Amino acid sequence: MQCVYPLFPSCCIREPVITQQVAARAAQLQARALKELSDVPDAEGLEAWRVSYLGRKGEATLLKRSITEVPPESRREFGQAANAASEALASAFEARRTEIERPSGDDADAIDVTLPGVPSPIGSIHPITSTVREICAAFGDMGFEVVEGPEVELDHYNFEKLNIPKHHPARDSFNTLWVDKTGEDGERPLLLRTHTSPMQIRTMEKQDPPVRVIAPGKAYRYEATDATHEWHFSQVEGLAVDKGITFADLKGTLHEFARRLFGENVRVRFRCDYFPFVEPGAEMSIDWSSRSDNRGAKGEKQEENWMEILGAGMVHPKVLEGVGYDPAVYTGFAFGIGIERIAMLKHGIDDIRLFYSNDVRFLRQF
Ligand code: PHE
Repeated sequence: MQCVYPLFPSCCIREPVITQQVAARAAQLQARALKELSDVPDAEGLEAWRVSYLGRKGEATLLKRSITEVPPESRREFGQAANAASEALASAFEARRTEIERPSGDDADAIDVTLPGVPSPIGSIHPITSTVREICAAFGDMGFEVVEGPEVELDHYNFEKLNIPKHHPARDSFNTLWVDKTGEDGERPLLLRTHTSPMQIRTMEKQDPPVRVIAPGKAYRYEATDATHEWHFSQVEGLAVDKGITFADLKGTLHEFARRLFGENVRVRFRCDYFPFVEPGAEMSIDWSSRSDNRGAKGEKQEENWMEILGAGMVHPKVLEGVGYDPAVYTGFAFGIGIERIAMLKHGIDDIRLFYSNDVRFLRQF
């Protein structure tokens, strides 16, 4: 029997088989065309693809037209399969065209979820912060509690209560940055605290003895900056008041602090110094010459290299009286440590300004 379906050479058989073959052929055509379409690189290739599949003599068009060769009973299925394939190709063509024609700028905006994430830079602890923490830990082990207070301070706490009344010559050495020199009512001038010592008064006003506190924080002075001076810097204030506290306690406590920070064998030296709120007053220096990274302020190498790191003394009876402590019963010692100086010694930093210039090349080293 002669085949009446030249499109399907082996199909001179039953209907379902014809229908299956039609579907398979349409599916094959569709798969091949889509694969080619996805490989089309540009507009030119896209047009060639369109002509060869959807054009007047394109394969999908011819497939649809061949419906005339299909027996009438099968035309419905055939038509549906051929149309579906042709429509799928047409919409795939449109999609690919938008992809190819879209300006590349749009691509840049598109979110590619497969890209690796942007790593967040991991910071490090600022050398001043880590030094303050180390100092607080050392005194914490010796029974001192940490307290904090305001940087914008009253003249009353920064000077008056520390035995530095108006017109006292010691005021000059503090190069004060005033916030409100006269005070709104002419009575209570405001300033940026020139040291952390006002925390001695604030603490004693709040509590009865015994007192053992340290107060880390920033202080400000109206000074020209250079390698060893900043107009703002950090201090750790310390105060211990109780019955029977002597200068020996002061020396023992501060020597132990130096040992914890600089090692068992560190040498310390106390010399007389003057601060209106202590009597007697002292400064403590450490000997830097035994360190392998010994650097004097002028870079000199010498037998002894004493670096002053703090001021201290026995709390002045007038100061104790001023906060209502009886100086006949209670004595105490106080100290103020310069943090930048210590951090500079520990890390071999020769310019104080590096701490606050926010240069990441400097900061990354810690
Ligand atoms: N406040 C003093 C200063 O800044 C240091 C100090 C503190 C001295 C406590 C004695 C007692 O120079």
